[in-house]
Amino acid sequence: PVSNQYENILVDQPKPGVGKITLNRPRALNALSSALFQELNDALQKLDNDDSTGAIVLTGSEKAFAAGADIKEMKDLTFSKAYNTNFIASWSSTIPNIRKPIIAAVNGHALGGGCELALMTDIIYCSSSATFGQPEIKLGIIPGAGGSQRLIAAIGKSRAMELILTGKNFSGTEAAQWGVAARVFYSAEECVQGAVNTAEKIAGMSKVAMRAAKEVVNKSQEVGLRDGLDYERKVFHGLFGSKDQKIGMSAFAEKKKPEWSNE
Ligand code: CAA
Repeated sequence: PVSNQYENILVDQPKPGVGKITLNRPRALNALSSALFQELNDALQKLDNDDSTGAIVLTGSEKAFAAGADIKEMKDLTFSKAYNTNFIASWSSTIPNIRKPIIAAVNGHALGGGCELALMTDIIYCSSSATFGQPEIKLGIIPGAGGSQRLIAAIGKSRAMELILTGKNFSGTEAAQWGVAARVFYSAEECVQGAVNTAEKIAGMSKVAMRAAKEVVNKSQEVGLRDGLDYERKVFHGLFGSKDQKIGMSAFAEKKKPEWSNE
C-alpha cells in the first residue's frame, strides 16, 4: 500500500492491516536528521490515509531505535537560525495528528530525540536491554521535542528531573517498571514481533471505535478531568450513531464474530 520510496526509512506490511516503519540510517544509529524526519512524517501520513492499514509499528534496528537528533547537523546551528526556521517544530506537527495507533518497538539506544520520538507514540514496547535517556544536558542543551513534558506524565517529576539534569540512561526493564513501556521483551526480535501482533489485533477492531478510543485517551493528556470526562461521554454517545456499534453488539448477542463496516 505504501511503497518504499525513501532513503532513511523502510516501510513494509508484515501482516494484513499492519504498516511497519523501520528507521534505517544504520551508520548514524538512526540519528534523526531533518531528511529522515521528513520521510517519517510522509510515511506516517500515507499510512494514516491508507484504508488497508489499521495500526502502525515504528521501530529501528537492534542497536538503535534512534540515538537522538542529528548532532552533526545541529553543531553549527545558531539561535537565530533555530528560531527563524522553528527548528524541529516539524517533529511535533505530524505525529500528534496521526489518528491510527502507533506502537513503538524500541531496541538499543532511544536517546534524546529518540526517547522523545518513542514518547510521542501511543504504546511503547521495548527489549530489556534498550537504553532510554535524555542526555541533552551533556551537550549543553535541553530536550527539545517534548522530553521535559511527556516524560513527566509517564514517570513523575522527581524521576524525570533527575534524568534530565544528570543525562543518565534508564534501561528497558526500568522503562517497563516505571510505566514508560507497556511491555518488555527479552530480545529485539520478540519485541518487534510483539508490536506487530498487537498492531494486528488493533487493526481487527472497528476503525471508528479505534479512532475514538485513541482520541479520548489522548485528550486526557491535554485537558483537566472534568473536561476529559465530558469529552469521553460525548464521543461515547456519538458511537451509538455508528453502524459498527450495532454490528458489535448484535454479534455479541448472537454469539458471532463481528464483521466491521468501519462506518
Ligand atoms: N547524531 C549524529 N550522529 C550520531 C548520533 C547523533 N545523535 N549518535 C551517534 N551518531 C553517529 C556517531 O557519530 C558515529 O558516527 P561515525 O562512525 O561517523 O563516527 C556512529 O553514529 C556510531 O556511533 P558511536 O561510534 O558513538 O557508537 P557507540 O556504540 O560507541 O555509542 C551512543 C553509541 C552511546 C548512542 C553514542 O553514539 C552517543 O552518545 N550518541 C549521541 C546520543 C545523544 O547525545 N543524543 C541526544 C542528541 S540531542 C537531541 O536529541 C536534542 C533533542 O532533544 C531534539
